[in-house]
Amino acid sequence: MTLPNMKATLFGATGKTGKYLIDEGLKRGMDLTVFVRSSTPFESPNVRIVRGELADIDRVREAVRGADAALSALGPTAVPHPKDLPITRATQAIISAMKQEDVKRLIAVSTGTAADPGDGPDWRVRAPALLIRLAMPSAYRDIIGLAEAIRDSQLDWTMVRVAFLKNHPASARLNVGLYGHSRHTMTVSREEVAAFMFDQISNPEFVHKAPGISTG
Ligand SMILES: NC(=O)c1ccc[n+]([C@@H]2O[C@H](COP(=O)([O-])OP(=O)(O)OC[C@H]3O[C@@H](n4cnc5c(N)ncnc54)[C@H](OP(=O)(O)O)[C@@H]3O)[C@@H](O)[C@H]2O)c1
Repeated sequence: MTLPNMKATLFGATGKTGKYLIDEGLKRGMDLTVFVRSSTPFESPNVRIVRGELADIDRVREAVRGADAALSALGPTAVPHPKDLPITRATQAIISAMKQEDVKRLIAVSTGTAADPGDGPDWRVRAPALLIRLAMPSAYRDIIGLAEAIRDSQLDWTMVRVAFLKNHPASARLNVGLYGHSRHTMTVSREEVAAFMFDQISNPEFVHKAPGISTG
């Protein structure tokens, strides 16, 4: 689906998934703004870049101003993960900036570790979640904090929950749905994640929902 004349602001888009998000947005003819941390080397033609810290609400407001949606691939990635909940705090800042700028649609990457109340039992998701909780408690708390901030946001949010991200090309079939109820594999390609996230901008089906997605 092309989305010409629409604007999206991307957070956490300087990493591996970000490359696919930027390619996907440009392919759809969208105007993209990428928020980049001051210390992160990053260049990308054909996108507007706003540099700053996620704690700087004025810079975050500048990044989301006029956007039809904000897309976030922020999440714990480094080990060890800091204890001061940087992703939760960054997400709270993004939510606050969106409210101040009247931007309502937020589509964010999450994981099966952040359980949905509607999930059924699926040990392939619960076992890694338990492992992360025990072995990486600060990352676990930030994953949960991110999800809680989004659920409490009163925005039109969708959390796109993934298991293991891969760089393989998009497949012909994507599994979508709550864990324990839908058929899922343990991997999904970053290209599929990017396409699914952009599909959600004008699709109300998963507003206030947190579907898992996996390669079919
Ligand atoms: N890899 C997996 O198998 C897997 C599994 C489940 C979920 N996920 C989630 O999927 C998302 C994307 O993964 P990826 O492989 O594309 O990650 P990535 O290449 O490491 O990129 C991570 C992005 O998040 C930003 N970021 C990380 N820590 C940050 C912090 N403390 N403050 C602000 N920004 C921060 C990075 O910004 P800088 O460039 O400025 O550092 C970068 O833009 C992440 O949220 C991750 O938690 C990944």
